[in-house]
Amino acid sequence: METNPSASSRREFLKSTGKTVAGLSVLSGITLPHVHAAGDDTIDIALVGCGGRGTGAASNAMGVKQRTRLVAMADVQENRLEASFNGLSNKHPDRFSVSADSKFIGFDAYKHAIDMLKPGDVVVLATPPAFRWVQFKYAIEKGVNVFMEKPICVDGPSGKRMLELGKEAEAKGLKVGVGLMCRHCRVRGELFDRIQQGEIGDIILGRAYRLQGPVGTCFTLPRDKETEKSELIWQIKNFHSFLWASGGAFSDFNIHNIDEICWMKNDFPIEAKATGGRTDRGDYIDQNFDHYSVEYTFRDGSKFWLEGRNAMKTHNEFASYVHGSKGMAVISTAGHFPSRAMTFKGQNKDPKEIIWRGPKQEPNPYDMEWEDLIDAIVNNKPYNEVERGAKASLVTVMGRMSAHTGQLVTYDQVVNHDQEFAPNVDKLTLDGPAPILADANGKYPIPYPGANGMYEYVVKA
Ligand SMILES: NC(=O)c1ccc[n+]([C@@H]2O[C@H](COP(=O)([O-])OP(=O)(O)OC[C@H]3O[C@@H](n4cnc5c(N)ncnc54)[C@H](O)[C@@H]3O)[C@@H](O)[C@H]2O)c1
Repeated sequence: METNPSASSRREFLKSTGKTVAGLSVLSGITLPHVHAAGDDTIDIALVGCGGRGTGAASNAMGVKQRTRLVAMADVQENRLEASFNGLSNKHPDRFSVSADSKFIGFDAYKHAIDMLKPGDVVVLATPPAFRWVQFKYAIEKGVNVFMEKPICVDGPSGKRMLELGKEAEAKGLKVGVGLMCRHCRVRGELFDRIQQGEIGDIILGRAYRLQGPVGTCFTLPRDKETEKSELIWQIKNFHSFLWASGGAFSDFNIHNIDEICWMKNDFPIEAKATGGRTDRGDYIDQNFDHYSVEYTFRDGSKFWLEGRNAMKTHNEFASYVHGSKGMAVISTAGHFPSRAMTFKGQNKDPKEIIWRGPKQEPNPYDMEWEDLIDAIVNNKPYNEVERGAKASLVTVMGRMSAHTGQLVTYDQVVNHDQEFAPNVDKLTLDGPAPILADANGKYPIPYPGANGMYEYVVKA
């Protein structure tokens, strides 16, 4: 039953204008109420980037209480799209409405997928983050809501652009979720409230650890040119190895822990002082260090230490803590979920000193972030996570840049930096070159602290 007359009249408006005026953005500049726009109460979803997380996010999107439906899929690799198509169609047959005509391959595939949506629907942007600003810009032009995976930028210029695009999305009333799903964890939410109410006093220190083996594609061997004909697609397949594509292992892996400390502190740091290096990398050609250590400083002078490592046979830890003047808190215990958040009197995790322990059963934050986004769309609540998503991404860049350059780096320096790893990322084509090329020895430029001033690497002519 229609309960919102403005929605109904808008649907009529869309039927009579948006559909018939091909190629003309009839909606641009017009602020419409952003309730969902499908002919019934169904919210249509398009998936751009059909890999591991994109498939997971689409599945979470199809699992929400509100009726949703996947209508389009886009990727640059057909086999990834097909695998995702098969998995999602089997898992959600009643909410799956992708046909041969709504599967798109190529660097412009995202446009075709977004074109299948109406204002009020949602596009999922789950490619490596290099493409985020390009695809977000188009989604804003088309007036569709967005769910985008973290990180949302890889360097200063792309972060600054995302902050601006976030404001444009806000001005249009679009709902935008950013995949820092721990922010939607109900137990961490309660922890945040307790900390803000002073349960552990003033926060004076944060500690975050992402110490793990070589996960994802952070270590990469030279390309086999026989089996991997396209250098660009090979770099995309190994996106954790290339700073232009992902911001490297540092940005991809550490951002969650960085963001949850910033959340509990209720601020973002203004400065980073970091070290790092490549210990024993054999023939690997990726641009990553394998260990990083960052001291972040907040405006009030308090500190936050981050330890990130990808190495074999070393101590593993995936956890975040904050220490206050009266006690300490566990934010993450071992991964993202369950958080097993707790607060303690004093600075030790002493079981006898527990103040509060989150409930054993925690709802999955990957589901919660979708319930929250869809609820905002259906009930037209303000919802735009771009500013904090961009700040978390930029603070992450700040730590990485400090380690890679060997310099003390401020937030302002990052936002105003001129090193954009792939300024042509919006013009890539399936048969075109990659943004960075190997030298005659098959090596890519790697960061070398102290060698290149404030630049993470310099491409030698
Ligand atoms: N929130 C989380 O916990 C979480 C977990 C994993 C990954 N992620 C994020 O999700 C994103 C994707 O990671 P993933 O692990 O799914 O990687 P993936 O390699 O499994 O998937 C990426 C997909 O995007 C496709 N793609 C690349 N460039 C494209 C383009 N220009 N247009 C269309 N498709 C394109 C690739 O072909 C691939 O299928 C990253 O930003 C990553 O950080 C988030």
